[in-house]
Parts: sequence; C-alpha cells; structure tokens
Amino acid sequence: MVYPIKVIGVGPGHEDYLTPAARKAAEQADCLVGGRRALRLFAHLGKETYLIDGNLSWLVEKLVQLWEDNRKVAVLVTGDPGFYSLSAYLKKHFPAEQLEFIPGISSVQVAFARIKRSWQDVRFVSVHGRPLEELREVVHPGQTVVILTDNNHTPRIVAEYLRGKVEGDPRVFICDSLTEPEETVVETRLSRVDQELTNSVMVIAYE
Ligand SMILES: C[S@@+](CC[C@H](N)C(=O)[O-])C[C@H]1O[C@@H](n2cnc3c(N)ncnc32)[C@H](O)[C@@H]1O
Repeated sequence: MVYPIKVIGVGPGHEDYLTPAARKAAEQADCLVGGRRALRLFAHLGKETYLIDGNLSWLVEKLVQLWEDNRKVAVLVTGDPGFYSLSAYLKKHFPAEQLEFIPGISSVQVAFARIKRSWQDVRFVSVHGRPLEELREVVHPGQTVVILTDNNHTPRIVAEYLRGKVEGDPRVFICDSLTEPEETVVETRLSRVDQELTNSVMVIAYE
C-alpha cells in the first residue's frame, strides 16, 4: 500500500490540544517535517526530523525523495491544516490522493473559547506574511473580524493601520500564545491597542 504524506494539524501549541488522531499519525510516521514548535511536541519520539524555518525551497524535493524511498512522512502544521497553513502550498505540488489531512484544533477555536463568543458569523483574514491593505474592506460595523497577526504585523501595527480608516472605536480582543504558559488575552478598544505581541489572534467586534 502506498502511504500518503500526512499533513497533521497539531493544534495551537500545548500537547493538551493535540488530538489523539494527530498523536497517533505522528507516532506512525518515520519522519516528521515541521516548524520548531510543532516538532517540539514530538521530540520524545526520537524520529528523524526536518525543520521548516520559513524557507520552503527544499521542501517539495525532500518530500518527494522521502516518499519515493517509501518512508512514512508527516508534515506538522499548527492549528488546523485547512486554515491558513502549508496545505495550500502542498496541494499545488502533490496530487490530492498523495495527501491525507488530519484536522487539528485551530488557534481561532481556542481564541473564541477564551473570549466566550461564538464564531459562526465572523470573517477571517490573515496578515501573517501578507499585506495590511485587505483589512480595510473587511473591518466595518456589524462585522466581527478575526485577524491572524505575526511578528511583523503585530496587533499594534494592525491597529495603527486601521485607526482613522474604519468607523468608530470597535472592541478588540488580542489572544496571544494560546495554550502556552505565556498565554495572554487582552480586551481593549482599537484606539488603545499598543500590544507588541507576536503570535496572536486579534478579534475586532463592533457590538
Ligand atoms: C500560518 S497561521 C496558522 C494558523 C493555524 N493553521 C490555525 O488553525 O490556527 C499562523 C498564525 O496563527 C495564529 N496562531 C497560531 N498559533 C497560535 C497560538 N498558540 N496563539 C495565538 N495565535 C496563534 C497566529 O496569528 C499566527 O501568526
């Protein structure tokens, strides 16, 4: 049987938020490919590992080589693979039947649990490695917006960009390093955001 490349959602960080299915898939793999935090979750397994540190030029070639050598490969992604992850990139390079996706708990699910709100009507946008311009179209009264920020586009930079461009002074929740020991959840207003946090889900709500 041909073993697919498994793309495993490992959750937002802490092992308590790793599903049993994700854990099992990682245990069954011969080699794990992923970011530093994701790999750390499985360090105790002593598997062969390949670190993704931002540069992806080597990734497809390495995955093809491992797959052709009949190695069981798992690519670890944070949160859920279907939400702003490496999955889209992998789908461009591999046929669907060569990939299997294992869902994970998204940082957004945890953020909404922490702020005790529902998330069925929200809009999602990411400025993680992407331009800020598209925020302008989506942040408006009546719409709750989730923004994935990063260490360049921090909540402070995002708020600075939005001030004066959007109506009023909406409520803002900043949920940083969720499930990690340094987890921080802040509720404030757009006019007052000055947080320089680097791994955050930012929620902008008008009501
Ligand atoms: C490339 S996206 C991956 C999203 C992921 N697939 C998910 O479902 O959460 C990375 C962004 O997700 C958010 N994120 C991931 N883990 C987080 C955490 N533990 N706490 C807060 N935000 C997190 C941050 O906005 C980060 O810049």
